[in-house]
Amino acid sequence: MRQALIAANWKMHGGREQARHLIEALVSAGVGGRESELVICPPSLYISHVANLLEGSGMALGAQNMHPADQGAFTGEISAPMLLEFGCRYVIIGHSERRQLFAETDADVAAKCRAAVSWGLTPIVCVGETAEQRDLGQTEAAVLQQLSAVMEDMVSLANAVIAYEPVWAIGTGLTASPAQAQEVHALIRKTVAGRDAKVADALRIVYGGSVKAANAEALFSAVDIDGALVGGASLLADEFIGICGQLP
Ligand code: PGA
Repeated sequence: MRQALIAANWKMHGGREQARHLIEALVSAGVGGRESELVICPPSLYISHVANLLEGSGMALGAQNMHPADQGAFTGEISAPMLLEFGCRYVIIGHSERRQLFAETDADVAAKCRAAVSWGLTPIVCVGETAEQRDLGQTEAAVLQQLSAVMEDMVSLANAVIAYEPVWAIGTGLTASPAQAQEVHALIRKTVAGRDAKVADALRIVYGGSVKAANAEALFSAVDIDGALVGGASLLADEFIGICGQLP
């Protein structure tokens, strides 16, 4: 049985006070400490602040990005050992915004994934097709190309979480239907199983793209959907609490 995971991707939103209000609301709703894993990924500047707020809550802390090197002359970047020092256990890797706006390649994503795992962090590796790729019938090819870069190192993959995030569903209010999402999740699991059935069986594959309290239950009922990566709705306490409440 795979442990469900819901990760909150705050992106570049919020501030000290908003973070405090949000975490306090989640804590008083008692969302942490269940069988599922809840992960809060604030902007990196707030990691230390949020680490303090999360203490004893049963929720875990994650980052939204990292550099693959341990240290070096990489102005503006943050490394895995730095994240660990501040209590992060997860890191989102290869979000479509990183790929599209910051030109991250599949090779960058694979290198970050490897580095994260080598430090004991759990990478949440994002894959997903654009609207154009879906329209052209290239969903499978796009997702498998991104996945194959990570599959070059099966040890890393065995310690990662995959987030299927169709780009057309991110922040748009459009959600993949449970059937559309399940189809791609099943494809990912089948592809990994082609290399290692045990890894595939244990691999957590979460869905992201306009997940909200109203659609979470249907998504979570699909057999290969093991949780969610939540953007916009993770900034609204009631929505996020509602999503967490839909886990089976
Ligand atoms: P969204 O974002 O929930 O606002 O669509 C998801 C994500 O980008 O991870």
